[in-house]
Amino acid sequence: MKQIIAVYPGTFDPISNGHLDLIKRGLRIFDKLIVAVASNPRKNPLFTINERVNFIKEAVKGLKNIEVESFNGLLIGFAKEKGANVIVKGLRAVSDFEYELQMSLMNRRLDTHIETVFMMPSEEYSFLSSRILKEVASLNGDVSGMVPKAVVEGLRKKFKK
Ligand code: PNS
Repeated sequence: MKQIIAVYPGTFDPISNGHLDLIKRGLRIFDKLIVAVASNPRKNPLFTINERVNFIKEAVKGLKNIEVESFNGLLIGFAKEKGANVIVKGLRAVSDFEYELQMSLMNRRLDTHIETVFMMPSEEYSFLSSRILKEVASLNGDVSGMVPKAVVEGLRKKFKK
């Protein structure tokens, strides 16, 4: 039977427990999940590409059928290179939908054989975004329970005065 290999792309600056929840849900459905960390320099990330990849690798230790890699350039190119047939994206709220729809239709135009699948994280995490987590951490707020342990420490170090 055909293997379903899914790519879960994002900037992951940094990974949150919402992302992690989606990874675990994806692993229940797909034969293999590749977390694809976009270097995305235009977004001016807080963490380097290596830091972002390492946070994810640390958080998924012990999980099977998962790979974590960085990529540059088009997501579709990366997915093709990996033999993936699915792109997984998370939808937290209606506000995510318009942008995600636009990207999924563009990706379909670029390669009709790769299908985008949307998944919802647990409602417990539906308010989380990397942007808001960074803002809270920068103002000395407690983000434990919302991001993996290594990220709590990473944020603390970045914003240490
Ligand atoms: O977590 P983000 O920042 O919402 O993720 C956005 C991401 C990385 C999925 C998107 O920027 C992307 O796919 N970048 C790669 C470049 C690309 O393929 N652009 C065309 C997408 S239609």
